[in-house]
Amino acid sequence: MSSFFVEEAEPARSVVRAVDVWKSYEQGAIRVLNGVNFEAVAGQTVALCGPSGCGKSTLLHLLGGLDTPTAGSIYVHDVKLEPGRSTLQLLRHQMGFVFQLHHLIPGLTLEENCMIPAVAAGTARDAARARMLQLTERTGIVHRLKQPIQKLSGGERQRTALCRALMNRPSILLADEPTGSLDESTSRQIFELLLELVETEQITLVMATHDRGLAERCHRLVEMRDGRVVDARAPEAEVTQGVQ
Ligand SMILES: Nc1ncnc2c1ncn2[C@@H]1O[C@H](COP(=O)(O)OP(=O)(O)OP(=O)(O)O)[C@@H](O)[C@H]1O
Ligand SMILES: [Mg+2]
Repeated sequence: MSSFFVEEAEPARSVVRAVDVWKSYEQGAIRVLNGVNFEAVAGQTVALCGPSGCGKSTLLHLLGGLDTPTAGSIYVHDVKLEPGRSTLQLLRHQMGFVFQLHHLIPGLTLEENCMIPAVAAGTARDAARARMLQLTERTGIVHRLKQPIQKLSGGERQRTALCRALMNRPSILLADEPTGSLDESTSRQIFELLLELVETEQITLVMATHDRGLAERCHRLVEMRDGRVVDARAPEAEVTQGVQ
């Protein structure tokens, strides 16, 4: 609490955290994550970088509760993720996901795809529709609402995926190479939009990317190798601080 005379800086709030997280498959024969410690705080944008196969997607899936660690813990707003209804509720309201390939449902329209998370969360229809219109307007696809997904361009699909991810006003957006399937100019446009949205909505972004240019635009760049975090710093920093 700040006193009357002194403005105290509020400590950064932990939004999502991995504590000594291990992940292996086939009874330990395939070891993918080897004791990862990671934290993102409120309002931060974090890029996860590293060579193909180093475990970026695996870590994102664990942070988002899409998979469970073999050992170690994940915390979302300081609540430990454990199987069960309360975790599901927490994730549904706090997490949004964007993937490299949009993962939208073909056969449904842009509008219907966007509405799915709100329906799942039990949001009142009018409120959900207002949010959907707000997001599709901001992302420049509101004129395409009635189009089935298969009639949209790659960029429009990724914009739709972004809207869908933000429908429930999550505090965390996990993005796995969100622009990886797009040409360079569309990729830049979508990334700018993503940064603008996370900033105005005060969302914490954790994004896996191979694109160093995009990574440099984030507040922090976390480098992974062989299932470990080997460097975590501000992109411009010359000295490795070893922060995790
Ligand atoms: N279900 C699974 N069973 C066995 N191995 C798996 C499974 N899922 C992932 N892996 C392995 O885990 C390792 C890390 O995969 P992951 O997808 O996290 O890497 P990545 O850093 O995201 O790579 P990329 O940059 O290519 O997307 C890979 O060697 C992959 O083959
Ligand atoms: Mg990956």
